[in-house]
Amino acid sequence: MKLSRRNFLTLSAASLLAGPPLLRHALADETKTIKLVLGKEQRQWFGPSGEPVKLWGFDRDVLRLRQGEPVEIEVENRLPQPSSVHWHGLRVENAMDGVTGLTQVPIEPGERFLYRFTPQDAGTFWAHSHHRTYEQLARGLYLPLIVEERTAYPVDQDMVLALDDWRLGNNGQLHTESFGDMHEWAHGGRTGNLLTTNRQLKPAFEVRAGERMRLRLLNTANARIMLVKLPSIPTWIIAKDGQPLAEPQPLSEPLVLAPAERYDLVVDIPAQNADRYTIRDVGLDEPVELASLQVTGKAEKRWFSPPKALAANPLPEPGSGEPDHRLQLDMTGGAMGNLRQAVYQGETLGVKELIQKHQIWAFNGVANMPEQPMLDVKRGDLVEIEILNNTRWPHGMHLHGHHFKADLARYPKGIWHDTLAMAGGERSTIRFRADNPGSWLLHCHMIEHQAAGMVTWIRVA
Ligand code: C2O
Ligand code: CU
Repeated sequence: MKLSRRNFLTLSAASLLAGPPLLRHALADETKTIKLVLGKEQRQWFGPSGEPVKLWGFDRDVLRLRQGEPVEIEVENRLPQPSSVHWHGLRVENAMDGVTGLTQVPIEPGERFLYRFTPQDAGTFWAHSHHRTYEQLARGLYLPLIVEERTAYPVDQDMVLALDDWRLGNNGQLHTESFGDMHEWAHGGRTGNLLTTNRQLKPAFEVRAGERMRLRLLNTANARIMLVKLPSIPTWIIAKDGQPLAEPQPLSEPLVLAPAERYDLVVDIPAQNADRYTIRDVGLDEPVELASLQVTGKAEKRWFSPPKALAANPLPEPGSGEPDHRLQLDMTGGAMGNLRQAVYQGETLGVKELIQKHQIWAFNGVANMPEQPMLDVKRGDLVEIEILNNTRWPHGMHLHGHHFKADLARYPKGIWHDTLAMAGGERSTIRFRADNPGSWLLHCHMIEHQAAGMVTWIRVA
């Protein structure tokens, strides 16, 4: 409603009469309240045998928020374990970051926690448990999260493809006996034997010839790095980890998608008829179909020009200036690695003792969360970290509360990340402006590596 001076006056008279309650009501209306339940046997999917696979989940398929619109999210834990929710990639206030042991106490079974934030950035994000994550994420505790742009981006269809990797046992149920398997923790983490998209086996999505699609790809696996081959039709990358590219970039190669990485793509379905286009993971010996686009009829309108860039989010550019802090982060350990000893909970331990504590990876010689942050900075400082992957394994480095720029040639130039895939032996320098006060994790998002030592934190005062 547009307020004319006249009804503005009427309104103020009314609010004077009614007193403060009216004003409170008006304010409360702007904050959207959402309830999320973490539960057993939610969002289950049907396995190859046709039986439902017993999983944990949120009580919805996707969460849609709007950029700049405050929300209150009440999370109720109906699981048999304590839990928490982390809003991966959202630059929220530190107390809302959902990291148990650092930013909040776990939500006990039967209890609730109120998360409050205003999404600053539009894009593709996800929410997931950040407590006993190696088990809870593998059991399915995650939720794709979309923050809608203030002005809708022009496409015919907008879909999320949340890709996951599950390990089922012979009984067709989740293989829970292998949670905590130290052999896997020291290697590539827990990988599964069945891939799904949106918790379905090879779903087919209806499209029309000539349509323009926005596909939001998200890897929710604990540890599997996917190599996603899109159909050979016009495709562009328009965003990475929720942040728009300055210029859409044509895509022709398969996309490397490490756990927690996201890509927003624009795909133009050709106007001439083809029945079906498949999206595959080609990272395995045999390509696996993840999903397909099934053409059913023709769109009314055609798209002639390439896609436009999305509007940029309000991120602080690190620029190319002299950093306030320069640090090296040496990643070591794992199978076939060079780890002889590491500091764990303040004590220097040899490899045998580390393994007894389920530790086998280290950042700068420290396994797991140190008492003190790896780096203490002031708000607004420019931070540069040279990450050296001195292991035989790939990793996906994730920083909480900030997005950063990196210099790996594999990625389109100048893009933002919250998660960075690094091959064994690779190095990369990341830069960011530490503008978000609080305690923020920096860890490998191959969750078994995190659990087995690859996690530290920085403090922004
Ligand atoms: Cu997606 Cu520390 O998390
Ligand atoms: Cu790792």
